[in-house]
Amino acid sequence: MKIIVTGGTGFLGHHLIRALVKAGHQVKNIDLKPSPIYPTVVADVRDQARMLKEIIDADVVFHLASLIEAGESVKKPARYLDFNINGTLSVLEAMRQNGLKTFIFSSSAAIYGEPQNIPIKEDDRTLPISPYGATKLAMEALLNTYVKAHGFSGIALRYFNLYGPEEHHQPETHAIPRFIKQIHQGELVTIWGDGGHLRDYVYIDDIVAAHLEALSLAQKQPTQYHYFNLSTEKPASVMELVNLIETALGQSAKIKHFPDRPGDPRVLYASAEKARQALHWQAQVSLEAGIKRTVDYFINYWQKNATP
Ligand SMILES: NC(=O)c1ccc[n+]([C@@H]2O[C@H](COP(=O)([O-])OP(=O)(O)OC[C@H]3O[C@@H](n4cnc5c(N)ncnc54)[C@H](O)[C@@H]3O)[C@@H](O)[C@H]2O)c1
Repeated sequence: MKIIVTGGTGFLGHHLIRALVKAGHQVKNIDLKPSPIYPTVVADVRDQARMLKEIIDADVVFHLASLIEAGESVKKPARYLDFNINGTLSVLEAMRQNGLKTFIFSSSAAIYGEPQNIPIKEDDRTLPISPYGATKLAMEALLNTYVKAHGFSGIALRYFNLYGPEEHHQPETHAIPRFIKQIHQGELVTIWGDGGHLRDYVYIDDIVAAHLEALSLAQKQPTQYHYFNLSTEKPASVMELVNLIETALGQSAKIKHFPDRPGDPRVLYASAEKARQALHWQAQVSLEAGIKRTVDYFINYWQKNATP
């Protein structure tokens, strides 16, 4: 198949493109930054004229391009609305005008805000507590209008924290790569609250596998809007993460606790029952195995490159 990936230079995009190419697909990456590995159309997805030229002659678009920091979005809401909502609209419009109809996109657990029920099911209340989450919810709603009005096939994949090798965000706010670096370097590991907050961490290969399943679902059940939680259903506390990383590194953490962040839910994880039934997807990689692989990657990376 001919596949367009937006945001393919980022953490998930890099892994997704590698899997798509391996499966024999022809992939075009569109990103603000060139990928060191894959040919990239360096462009801003908000640039409607450019997208009309680039989003053409493909069977499916995986839309990953987005600003991704919930905390930053609280300080810069207008920037998040512009990048995420206008960017999505621009891609959808280019698809509509060029006759492309299958859109699979990166949504987020952030659309739920403070959950009313645990585990969270897809049709539970969605009430984001950050502008980032609000943009993801708006992106889903926008996609649904293209499904209903223009016969698109749309799939929103709602990830709960993904992690794995080759995650190099700048700055890195995600817990697992941050803790690995801090423990490895003997720096203070900073934890909000007592470290008992439960979260769901999904290994990158499992997330990529769900995208391949989504591709087949879009073919089997077109012209519908599907939305799925991608969750392991096995939440772990922040202290469990630290302990697993300590074991994998063979080093002890120096921990500093900060007060709880207001509005930070104590427990946040989802049911993956819908994904199991309709996508035939279930997370396979245990947190222990995933952290070991991630730690091994970073140790190897720092041996070849300068230590951070
Ligand atoms: N990492 C997580 O834990 C997580 C959780 C839930 C959802 N998501 C979503 O998954 C997707 C991928 O996440 P990631 O961790 O790979 O992020 P990332 O920041 O590594 O990758 C995003 C890519 O999008 C590109 N991009 C941003 N704005 C663009 C624009 N206007 N035009 C073109 N390219 C643009 C960036 O250059 C970057 O390469 C994002 O949509 C994110 O919101 C991630």
